[in-house]
Amino acid sequence: MNRKYRKTIIAANWKMNKTAAETRDFVERLREALPRNRRCGIVLCVPYVDIAIAGKLLRESRISLGAQNLHWEDHGPYTGEVSAAMLADLDVKYVIIGHSERRSLFCESDLVVNKKVRAALDAGLRPILCVGEDLDQRQLGVAPELIAYQIKVALAGVSAEEMRRVVIAYEPIWAIGTGVSATPEQAGEVCAAIRDILHKLYDARVARSTTIQYGGSMNEKNAAALLEQEDVDGGLIGTASLDPEKLLAIIQAASQDEPEEC
Ligand code: PGA
Repeated sequence: MNRKYRKTIIAANWKMNKTAAETRDFVERLREALPRNRRCGIVLCVPYVDIAIAGKLLRESRISLGAQNLHWEDHGPYTGEVSAAMLADLDVKYVIIGHSERRSLFCESDLVVNKKVRAALDAGLRPILCVGEDLDQRQLGVAPELIAYQIKVALAGVSAEEMRRVVIAYEPIWAIGTGVSATPEQAGEVCAAIRDILHKLYDARVARSTTIQYGGSMNEKNAAALLEQEDVDGGLIGTASLDPEKLLAIIQAASQDEPEEC
């Protein structure tokens, strides 16, 4: 983390979990126990069907509402899809785009990810753009090129000004939902490399001020060590975010003092 230059953001990705009643229970427990001294942004990315109830419960809470996907068109014959305008209308602020589960299970290409990033920005939303390599790609040593490619395509046509609203989540696929997190050093190294890519694509300001999260089995036990890395500005959390106590512990970890600069 480096709060001097950028915001630390803890985002919950509930994936396909929680009914409306469970959402109510979770938000009530989270709001009650939220520490006053927290020093990070908090985002709950809930299933579409829970957005309305979560939005109502989060009003005046300083916890932001997020979605997990969108369609890039404004409206039209796209059965089962939801547009950015529809999300914005329900006070959604953040939207996860290009999660590896969407890329692999729903065949989302980098070009589709780019269209979705554009649609989100055009509707005033803040995309949380996910990038990351699988185990084979890491072992072959092509992760840096792959991640640079994913970012370059996803951000095509996005201006430096618009980058103020973009969050990037580095999510190594081999760490997602496996219980095996990247080590703090591995996470820190790739997040720093992503900052370099932003420097090349934009400028020093964009590189320095963009929030770059780590995601992949981040939990209440490993969060503090991961967040101690200078370039890890928060987390995108799946499994551990389903339990309010665990999410609160991660929020605490993100509110710790930064390590002394040496
Ligand atoms: P996980 O999921 O925390 O369960 O690994 C992270 C994610 O997919 O965003």
